[in-house]
Amino acid sequence: MSPLAKELFYLLHTGNLHSGESLAQHFGVTRQAIWKAINELKTGALVETIGRQGYRALYSYIPLSREAILSTLNESLVDNVITLIDVTSTNEEIAKLPLTKALVMVSEMQTNGRGRNGKVWISPLARNLYFSMRIQFKAQALANLTSFSPALGIALVEYLQSKNIPAKIKWPNDIWVNGAKLAGILIETSAKSEHEVEMIIGIGLNNHPLADDNLAQNKATSIYEISGEAFDRNALIADIIQLISNLRDQYEAFTPPNIVELWNKNSALYQQKIRLFSPNREIIGTEIGIADNGALLIQHEDGSIQNYFSGELSLRAYA
Ligand code: BTN
Repeated sequence: MSPLAKELFYLLHTGNLHSGESLAQHFGVTRQAIWKAINELKTGALVETIGRQGYRALYSYIPLSREAILSTLNESLVDNVITLIDVTSTNEEIAKLPLTKALVMVSEMQTNGRGRNGKVWISPLARNLYFSMRIQFKAQALANLTSFSPALGIALVEYLQSKNIPAKIKWPNDIWVNGAKLAGILIETSAKSEHEVEMIIGIGLNNHPLADDNLAQNKATSIYEISGEAFDRNALIADIIQLISNLRDQYEAFTPPNIVELWNKNSALYQQKIRLFSPNREIIGTEIGIADNGALLIQHEDGSIQNYFSGELSLRAYA
């Protein structure tokens, strides 16, 4: 994004109308330059032209702010929080940085957002949360970490419920509300040395009105669509950092949460007939819970029970 489009992004966040003339004067550039920069924001479905009167954002938004995020956080939780306007993928870029203890990267948009199983994560400007946090565990914690992904999904679901969002988890860690996807989590784990394991946790959460392409491609929902008001993403980010840090501490202390119990309360498809898809077969059965190592328990039609691990599998309600 050009430097002028970035400046306009911050100026337009209130949703007020600005004439091309006043913007040109404000930035000391031509109206043509303003028009070009506005068009960059239009590709992000952020700005509209109001006849001959000027331009305004389609909705008001609070830009990401490092200071606002850090202001409510205990300093010892993160080494740094990096806020960007555009990036290929926060998961991809955060992996390239040197890590000390914990690092966070958030962006207003992603040009190559990544979902699970090689899918694309549509990431339009200012609408949503695109969050990555990079943390470390001692190698001894590795054996337990297979359950970290559903444990984080459950923690996020319970957090959203505390904010009156009726969220449920769909295995392995999709966040659903009323049958539509609100958020997704992409976790990438790697061994850094004999003693250390590194985890990159990527979270995408739909916050503002959905862009049309998002609706068409996925059965998606957003905080705004559910409650009529978007979250302040800066406060949300601080809360998620706290939530992930607490969970990491629990795993490091070998006292992970009891996901077996928590799952049944919070699963969107618990005790329901489901289809489980793998690249080369389809399994039909009933979801009857989760094992403490994070495997999904499916009862087949012949009554037998089998454990399934995430990998390339995807789960749907049987309909
Ligand atoms: C899913 O497929 O459900 C997981 C989606 C994860 C998307 C987030 S957005 C921030 C981070 N950066 C990425 O490229 N992906 C994750």
